[in-house]
Amino acid sequence: MVYVASPIADIDRMPRGGPDASCLDRLLETDRQEYLDRDDVDEDVKRSVVRALEWTGERFGNTENFARIALEEVADVADPKILELGAGHGGLSRKLLDWHPTAELTVTDVEPASVAKMAASDLGDNPRATVREMDATAIDAPDGHFDLAVFALSFHHLPPSAASRVFAEGTRAADKLVIIDLPRPPAPLHLLRLATMLPFTPFVPFLHDGFISSLRTYSPSALRALAEHADPAIDVELRGGLMNPQVVVATRR
Ligand SMILES: C[S@@+](CC[C@H](N)C(=O)[O-])C[C@H]1O[C@@H](n2cnc3c(N)ncnc32)[C@H](O)[C@@H]1O
Repeated sequence: MVYVASPIADIDRMPRGGPDASCLDRLLETDRQEYLDRDDVDEDVKRSVVRALEWTGERFGNTENFARIALEEVADVADPKILELGAGHGGLSRKLLDWHPTAELTVTDVEPASVAKMAASDLGDNPRATVREMDATAIDAPDGHFDLAVFALSFHHLPPSAASRVFAEGTRAADKLVIIDLPRPPAPLHLLRLATMLPFTPFVPFLHDGFISSLRTYSPSALRALAEHADPAIDVELRGGLMNPQVVVATRR
């Protein structure tokens, strides 16, 4: 028998754990926003979170790991045009420019302060890089303009309807969309992870945002449902995701 997922009428009501989420998993989510997404938070606090993301990305190998994942997806393209969405600090784009001699990068974020900071850095002077403001839910580029769009550690920031639009927009403007995000482990393990972070969240802005990110990250079944909601013609391939980041490669048939 062929299993056909039933369409979700109101996607914003879907739990982050997906349509099949357990009762405990449905409790492990929140509508609270990360400091990064709030207008009432001091810019210095937000900058400290972005700096910590950049530092941990370098220190723990995530940046290199994500660059490897992205480059594998364009291995057969001679001079790939790559769009980074939600780039934050630009560490991933920097690594891609470093490792690929001819790749052209469009380095973007929705947050003007992050875009200004990246434009004022070495990225702004790189002839193979364009730094600009862009919303991942409304990509300002013609169909098929990019070979690859990559959205790292950012997808969970978006509520389901907006997240679904990223699938539609990413696979419209690029031949492939790669989403890399935090894993959503089975609920008991997730609870354990949250318990270890909780005591530090009032003191360390990066862990405050990490805690909320963990509650907001989507499960594999949620990711499939979001892609299906965007367009049933989008194929998704999911990898990783128990203790390491989950990777989604989305393409249109
Ligand atoms: C946790 S940071 C990740 C930064 C970087 N990609 C990394 O891996 O460290 C999330 C980023 O997503 C950006 N973001 C949130 N909503 C977005 C949207 N709708 N379009 C583009 N970027 C968005 C935020 O401004 C922020 O820079």
